[in-house]
Amino acid sequence: MGKFTVLDHPLIQHKLTIIRRKETSSNEFRQIVGEIGGLMTYEITRDLPLKDVEIETPIGKTTQKEIAGKKMTIVPILRAGIGMLNGVMEMIPSAKVGVIGMYRDEETLKPHEYFCKMPKDIAERECLVVDPMLATGGSANMAIGALKKRGVKTIKLAVLVAAPEGVKAIQEENPDVDIYAAAEDEKLLPNGYITPGLGDAGDRLFGTK
Ligand code: PRP
Ligand code: URA
Repeated sequence: MGKFTVLDHPLIQHKLTIIRRKETSSNEFRQIVGEIGGLMTYEITRDLPLKDVEIETPIGKTTQKEIAGKKMTIVPILRAGIGMLNGVMEMIPSAKVGVIGMYRDEETLKPHEYFCKMPKDIAERECLVVDPMLATGGSANMAIGALKKRGVKTIKLAVLVAAPEGVKAIQEENPDVDIYAAAEDEKLLPNGYITPGLGDAGDRLFGTK
């Protein structure tokens, strides 16, 4: 089964509390979702493999470390995943971006894919799927399925708030995928919202409520 890790760094917890507050403006919400995305990426990439490289400084030759292994692709799930993207890209500026568009049917809570554009060499890359909310897990499972269909072998999922129901759904359908969250909340409400959660992440990011 894939690991589920809550990244409880004090900065992440503090920033998450700000975006949970209902009075936080879209402007501040957007800024902080990006910042948390960056801090989470710093933690998630802790185990990236390194290799030795010979370089020359202005003073002389030396052997130093650089990141080895597969190149990364960041996969934000539209719309709300876009909010995390800037922060993640600040940590990994050379990553490519593959975008997948999903919306949840408000009645059935089932996801629908409406857009997918991946780099050509996606099968050779490691993917980090990002979305602020893991509720039923339907959207993330569908996005992971779309990547696997394109030959991707290594996938990680980063969310801000995870419902236990969503974590279970990913672990059952995609047991090879490690999940990282800033918090695991109490539960999913019958209307599909996470409690205490932070409300509708897409609407708060884009001011569409
Ligand atoms: C939200 C959120 C996730 C999804 C999570 O997107 O950003 O993608 O719901 O729910 P799930 O785990 O039950 O699938 P939404 O469908 O509201 O679209 P939006 O990002 O365009 O607002
Ligand atoms: N999507 C959101 O934006 N918020 C929730 O609480 C659940 C799904």
